[in-house]
Amino acid sequence: MPPPEHLREELQSVLIGEKEIALRVRELASEIERDYNGKELLMVALLTGTVPFLADLMRHITLPLRLDFMGVSSYGDGTTPGELVFTKDLRLEARNRDVLLVDDILDTGQTLHTVLGKLSDLHPHSLKTCVLLEKTSRRRESVTADYVGFEVPDEFVVGYGLDYAERFRNLPFIGVLKPEVYA
Ligand code: PRP
Repeated sequence: MPPPEHLREELQSVLIGEKEIALRVRELASEIERDYNGKELLMVALLTGTVPFLADLMRHITLPLRLDFMGVSSYGDGTTPGELVFTKDLRLEARNRDVLLVDDILDTGQTLHTVLGKLSDLHPHSLKTCVLLEKTSRRRESVTADYVGFEVPDEFVVGYGLDYAERFRNLPFIGVLKPEVYA
């Protein structure tokens, strides 16, 4: 799908459209509801890219739910991940709770691997992960997500929370950035 006219200089295509995302997010919510079967969830979302996905996902979950955030960023050069920096800690108690970690994308696995280690140390009753996107080709840590929206190719994807240099998070779809923009 071609991107909207005003984004054609920077984006090469729309990879996943708004409707397709909405359908898949509803499916993920149903899977989570079924698996947790009435249990109370502590949803832990990673700032910042997860915001649109989280907002849509949680509104389709009818389980009793608490929400908390962890701030974590990898300061790389835009295409390769760099050092992981924690910018916000959990506020709620995770001990003995059923924790579902939500992130926008699982790429090299560095973020999920590190955060899962941190959360395990808090002794939750259970710990699962949900990501909207995953790129399997660049995985460096042996980490998998329990719920995955879409597998995406090794392209620079932006939109629906995902950024390039902090831009494009507000797009309602997932698009592919032209290589010349980040090269
Ligand atoms: C992005 C994304 C994931 C992480 C995935 O976060 O939101 O958390 O990278 O990459 P990995 O599997 O290689 O660790 P980023 O550090 O760019 O922060 P952001 O969410 O604020 O954009």
